[in-house]
Amino acid sequence: MKFLVINGVNLARTGKRERNVYGAESLEEMNAEIAAFVAAHGHEVEFFQSDVEGELCARLGRADGNYDGIVLNAGAYTHYSYALRDAIAGISVPVVEVHMSNVHAREEFRRNSVLTGVCRGEVLGFGKNSYKLALESFWL
Ligand code: DQA
Repeated sequence: MKFLVINGVNLARTGKRERNVYGAESLEEMNAEIAAFVAAHGHEVEFFQSDVEGELCARLGRADGNYDGIVLNAGAYTHYSYALRDAIAGISVPVVEVHMSNVHAREEFRRNSVLTGVCRGEVLGFGKNSYKLALESFWL
């Protein structure tokens, strides 16, 4: 199977920002580990990151018909982007929402996701392993 992992706004700064919440590893280091995990299970994965809402929507649109599953950490867009919600609803590739942190144990505004309702499921709170668990859900 072939997967796409999409990271949204501010996630390129993982390892630099709020290390107490998101850890000290860079996104590149995390992606390398995730790629090795997926390859070890005989599957393929590609990665995309953008801070720009419209680019994330466009990438989701281009993914339609080209992947078996998408794992999406939209960052703060999760909490208010109806554009991303519509982009997910408008493709047939299943999307699993992920968060590194336990958003329910943080500020009130993080408890609401406008994306979950159009996603296949959600994995949160397990750091970089949230991505691996979400990917694994496609082949289990
Ligand atoms: C996040 C949680 C969001 O609330 C936050 O805006 C992020 C990262 C996470 O991975 O825990 O940027 O999606």
